[in-house]
Amino acid sequence: MVRPVRNEDIEAVIGIDTLVTGQEKRAYWRSVFRRYGTGLESASQFLVADHGGEVLGFVIGEVRDWEFGSPPCGWVFVINVTPKVRQTGVGAQLLEAVCAGFRREGVRTVRTILARENTLILSFFRSQGMTTGPFIPLEMSLES
Ligand SMILES: CC(C)(COP(=O)(O)OP(=O)(O)OC[C@H]1O[C@@H](n2cnc3c(N)ncnc32)[C@H](O)[C@@H]1OP(=O)(O)O)[C@@H](O)C(=O)NCCC(=O)NCCS
Repeated sequence: MVRPVRNEDIEAVIGIDTLVTGQEKRAYWRSVFRRYGTGLESASQFLVADHGGEVLGFVIGEVRDWEFGSPPCGWVFVINVTPKVRQTGVGAQLLEAVCAGFRREGVRTVRTILARENTLILSFFRSQGMTTGPFIPLEMSLES
């Protein structure tokens, strides 16, 4: 089942992220939990896939209004599924749940940004129906 994150899930979230990225970011995940995991702000969602009490993955998303000149839309900031259960539909369930929350908030578009070389996440989002949108990311180095 997919449900809102609870305080006691944070260790599992940190564990999955550490496994996937090779970098433990304990303070970061605690601050993300404080910001997105309270359930007080309906436009913010931090959801976990719970299988018999074990957290198998998580997704974080938020409705943002008029940023970048865009009408309100849902943003998926991160989605992660623990490697041992991948390709069993957990990622799709998490994405569907966060999109259902966006629909309840009245938005009709979902967006995300991904690293160009991350073909796994690209394949996943493409399989779920996401395509190139009308916005493009730009950046520059701030080092002299
Ligand atoms: C991307 C990710 C969330 C997918 O989760 P998952 O539970 O394995 O996804 P699902 O089982 O729901 O797969 C749905 C579809 O995605 C695509 N997909 C998933 N894994 C794939 C793979 N290894 N190769 C190609 N396509 C893949 C398939 O089309 C799949 O549908 P199918 O099973 O009918 O073929 C998971 O692999 C993951 O957490 N990867 C690391 C994510 C990451 O880098 N996060 C940090 C940035 S946000």
